[in-house]
Amino acid sequence: MSHSLYTGLGSVPEMDDVQFSRWQSLLEERTGMCLPTQRRSFLQTSLGLRMQEVGCDSYQEYYDRVLNGPAGAIEWSTLVDRLTVQETRFFRDPDAFAFVEQHMRQLARTLPATSTLEAWSVGCSSGEEAYSLAMMAEQVLGEAGRRYAITGTDISTIVLRKARAGRYLARSLQWLPDFCRDSSMLSLENGHIQISDMLRKHCCFSQVNILNLDTCPLEEQHIIYCQNVLIYFRRWRRREILNALAQRLAPGGVLIIGLGEMVDWQHPLLEPVRSSRVSAFVRKTENSTGETARR
Ligand SMILES: C[S@@+](CC[C@H](N)C(=O)[O-])C[C@H]1O[C@@H](n2cnc3c(N)ncnc32)[C@H](O)[C@@H]1O
Repeated sequence: MSHSLYTGLGSVPEMDDVQFSRWQSLLEERTGMCLPTQRRSFLQTSLGLRMQEVGCDSYQEYYDRVLNGPAGAIEWSTLVDRLTVQETRFFRDPDAFAFVEQHMRQLARTLPATSTLEAWSVGCSSGEEAYSLAMMAEQVLGEAGRRYAITGTDISTIVLRKARAGRYLARSLQWLPDFCRDSSMLSLENGHIQISDMLRKHCCFSQVNILNLDTCPLEEQHIIYCQNVLIYFRRWRRREILNALAQRLAPGGVLIIGLGEMVDWQHPLLEPVRSSRVSAFVRKTENSTGETARR
């Protein structure tokens, strides 16, 4: 007997095992995200609703459509946005941001005056993490007239559009430390907060799939912040991505991941930070390894 699930728009068809595994594989192959069997009804509802919007009757028909040429690629980008977890907030991990502040203060002392501090939010979603880094950098470096540049990357073009706009519901204010509630950083308008142009000019958002980091031009980063992205991936993939990110750090730069996101990973170029509150790694300098720093 075939079942269907009732949604606001009507009912979506029941997804059989073959279709579930087909979609599960496509999602993992293209995004790295591993969808467990318990999330089958989520997949069914998300696909089913989209199928209603575009007028597809079966999962197979929709699958073929998504794989078909440039139109399929456009449809895929809508789907990615629906299927990925995009939850985020400003200063989501206060301990990690306290560590970032400490590291930025050190960089303010040690970086040559003409250098730009570069920080990268990997899997930035709608931009709150990147703007948190920018606010921190502005506080630590801005007054001294030092330069900083923040890059936010994500697979979803739709969240990146939100990130570039820098407009959030006013309730996001609850996550912002006092130093950020300054008119130079944001304004409150019509139930929203708007990130200031000054801060937005320091931030750049672009689409990068972390499965394809070899095509991403970012390197010599002083801070790479990658939290709540790898948790959806298999361990071997997490390891590969972290290895690739390690190569993108400047000597002395730090890689910060979520606590417990990768407990047994190490890299010859990196020194783990001893802390029970943050999971971070510092790229060794020429002095500590004898390696020739890539400059
Ligand atoms: C849960 S959010 C995390 C946002 C932010 N880093 C935080 O911790 O608040 C995960 C983000 O990772 C992105 N993502 C998932 N797979 C990705 C991939 N293969 N490449 C780049 N970004 C990806 C999703 O689009 C989503 O915006």
